[in-house]
Amino acid sequence: MAQALRISETLENAPVKAKASKVQVFYGAKQALTDIDLEIPQNHVTALIGPSGCGKSTFLRCINRMNDIIDGCRVEGDITIDGVNIYGPGQDVVQLRARVGMVFQKPNPFPKSIYENVAYGPRIHGMAANKKQLDDIVIDSLTRAGLIDEVKDRLDAPGTSLSGGQQQRLCIARAIAVKPEMILMDEPCSALDPIATARIEELIDELRNNFTIVIVTHSMQQAARVSQRTAFFHMGVLVETGATEQIFTNPKDTRTQAYITGRIG
Ligand SMILES: Nc1ncnc2c1ncn2[C@@H]1O[C@H](COP(=O)(O)OP(=O)(O)OP(=O)(O)O)[C@@H](O)[C@H]1O
Ligand SMILES: [Mg+2]
Repeated sequence: MAQALRISETLENAPVKAKASKVQVFYGAKQALTDIDLEIPQNHVTALIGPSGCGKSTFLRCINRMNDIIDGCRVEGDITIDGVNIYGPGQDVVQLRARVGMVFQKPNPFPKSIYENVAYGPRIHGMAANKKQLDDIVIDSLTRAGLIDEVKDRLDAPGTSLSGGQQQRLCIARAIAVKPEMILMDEPCSALDPIATARIEELIDELRNNFTIVIVTHSMQQAARVSQRTAFFHMGVLVETGATEQIFTNPKDTRTQAYITGRIG
């Protein structure tokens, strides 16, 4: 109980990192999201949950404008990050995607070495003046992703030679190498075994000290373990948002109740 109180107090005091206002998303004529209003607290983990097809991935992709590259997809409404509308005029999408990194369901390392997977982003964004600085970024990112001990003797080996869980940590290292402010994760553990999943969950908990994290998950246990705030989506609407503890113990909406007790989904 004391723990729950502490978490909700820090949640209430947390600055808002990102804020969605009246977000609507259409794929052609079909509306996928309606009137989404959601605040994402800084340095916390926000979990997006809900049945398949309810629009979790669609909403996640709004936050770094990945929907822009989907043919026929249209986004309306505002999303602000640090108070600035990322859909406003003059917004640099490449810069935005460096500020808001993404980790996908299936680990997707580039067909390059472990080193190059992490060095690629910092290099194209001109973040290192020389080889030594680039090496430092690579080592630091692999360390923060909890992978360094397993790869330090084989940085030149292909990223694809790692196990699934290691590949996912490599993808997290790649995402944090460009020093993002936010990291979006779309079911990052669904291709992993329980041990690799536990490793990633621990990592997420550490990463929130430095980043604001939004994670989509089908596992309610995972949402309960890693997030402080949970948003429940259903059929394209955001039904309920609250402290994770409250959503799982005392949901207000009957649809949320039905989902967390396994009656819909
Ligand atoms: N590229 C696309 N083109 C057309 N419709 C799409 C596209 N992507 C998603 N949709 C539709 O938008 C709705 C929301 O899909 P989305 O993938 O966001 O759901 P989700 O909650 O992430 O589901 P899941 O849990 O299965 O991943 C669904 O009806 C889906 O069919
Ligand atoms: Mg999805």
